Amino acid sequence: MSDRPLDPRRAEIRKIAAEAEKDGHPARWFEKVYATASGDADAVPWAMERPNPYLLEWLDDTKTCGDGKSALVIGCGLGDDAEALAGRGFDVTAFDISETAIAWCRQRFPNSSVCYQVCDLFACDASWTRAFDFVFESRTVQSLPLKLRHTTIGMVSEFVADGGTLLVVANRRDTEAEPDGPPWPLSDSEFKRFEACGLTEIRRDCFDRNSRPTVRVEYHRVFNG
Ligand SMILES: C[S@@+](CC[C@H](N)C(=O)[O-])C[C@H]1O[C@@H](n2cnc3c(N)ncnc32)[C@H](O)[C@@H]1O
Repeated sequence: MSDRPLDPRRAEIRKIAAEAEKDGHPARWFEKVYATASGDADAVPWAMERPNPYLLEWLDDTKTCGDGKSALVIGCGLGDDAEALAGRGFDVTAFDISETAIAWCRQRFPNSSVCYQVCDLFACDASWTRAFDFVFESRTVQSLPLKLRHTTIGMVSEFVADGGTLLVVANRRDTEAEPDGPPWPLSDSEFKRFEACGLTEIRRDCFDRNSRPTVRVEYHRVFNG
């Protein structure tokens, strides 16, 4: 449990999330967060309105260029990471369960090449299975309760094509005990779960830049052709 008092908007969001979980719809509350923000990104606690710095650093470090390769952004929020990948030459699809978030992306980036879609991670089109050269997952897995974790990690992993890359940015917890969420940061055994889903960990970087430790992990799906 966090020892810092939550600001009123975060406290409200935890209440919305807890109610949704009780009702058996642990992912539907995101729409409420975006809708009640009424176009004010400051009311969406995770929205940075700029690309994720851990993604940008990784792209620079690894000198990654899209060269028209396909990329998928999971739980894309307001679209900054999708736009950053499109700017690096990827052919990007980005989805979110929230209709309001996707409408917001389209409004923010009217001339974008990104294909923004409203989609539930647990009900994506079968044609997306193992279809993407690069998959970016930042903080969506941790935004869903622990009881869904194995399924969530399995779904995320299945988007990665043979020979493709998954980059995960998430907070890490140093215990297997259930934390008070959302968010519910990932434990070491949960990071390992990506490997049980057929991926190989290539590189891991750990950061302590804010109150929650952040981990960035690069996984590959080894080409078996
Ligand atoms: C904590 S936010 C992170 C947003 C963004 N990836 C980032 O790092 O800034 C989690 C995002 O995942 C989306 N999301 C949650 N559950 C989802 C699901 N089942 N399918 C698709 N998107 C989902 C939410 O609407 C929200 O935009």
